[in-house]
Amino acid sequence: MLITSNTQEFRAGNIAFVPTMGALHKGHASLINQARQLGEKVVVSIFVNPLQFENKSDLEKYPSTPEMDAEIAESAGADVLWLPNTSDIYPGEIKTVEPGPIGNIFEGESRPAHFQGVLTVVKRLFDLVQPHWAIFGEKDYQQLFLIQQMVRELQIPVSVVPGETVRDLDGLAISSRNVRLSEQDRNAALVISRALNSARGMHTLSAKQETLDEALFSEPLFRRDYACIIDEATFELASETTVSKRALVAGWVNGVRLIDNMPMKVSAQ
Ligand code: PAF
Repeated sequence: MLITSNTQEFRAGNIAFVPTMGALHKGHASLINQARQLGEKVVVSIFVNPLQFENKSDLEKYPSTPEMDAEIAESAGADVLWLPNTSDIYPGEIKTVEPGPIGNIFEGESRPAHFQGVLTVVKRLFDLVQPHWAIFGEKDYQQLFLIQQMVRELQIPVSVVPGETVRDLDGLAISSRNVRLSEQDRNAALVISRALNSARGMHTLSAKQETLDEALFSEPLFRRDYACIIDEATFELASETTVSKRALVAGWVNGVRLIDNMPMKVSAQ
């Protein structure tokens, strides 16, 4: 695997691209595996984007595990690990990309300017790498939606491919934040995937929402931010007639913010 900060060393052929901020885990490995099935060249980037952190101390505390990242990227099938410098990504005045109203709800409500930062960096990464495919995890469903919207609106010639959320055996969606959970916190955090799975089993939208609410409120250590069922096509709140519904949940366990989501397929009657 080539490790470089210079796009000239790899920018040719059909690239399947996995942008990351490092601290790679099984979730990233699965995206890289997926890229391997698609592209003749798999490029993984690591760039901790200052624009998407509202809070300087979060940026400073962001984990850095370069040796492990290189090992995980290579064994998952990456050909290139691209480590751009800040001056490559933001060489002059920053041309920001606006996410529009969907950037201000759910995650955007508690993290102002977060999605503007994400879209701005992803646009730059696409400009520099010119990938044929780019893989983003469904775990960050709002991010995935906004990137798909940006690609459509700006007519960027890239196929955005969603990567399924990877879960530990107990159901917890894999995230770099999980290491901050004690055993007791982790048990409490399991309420999220339990609630999503129970809601999925219900037939009507109202039963799904009630099940979600009840399950989440039953765990005293879980402090809810939101738990909503949206229309996957528009990101608006779903109605009974919405065809593709998805439940989004966010909240905190002992100060650790966790998000998860699941498609709410109508079960067979
Ligand atoms: O999901 C992430 O890791 C980041 O938001 C991304 C897409 C790499 C942009 O910095």
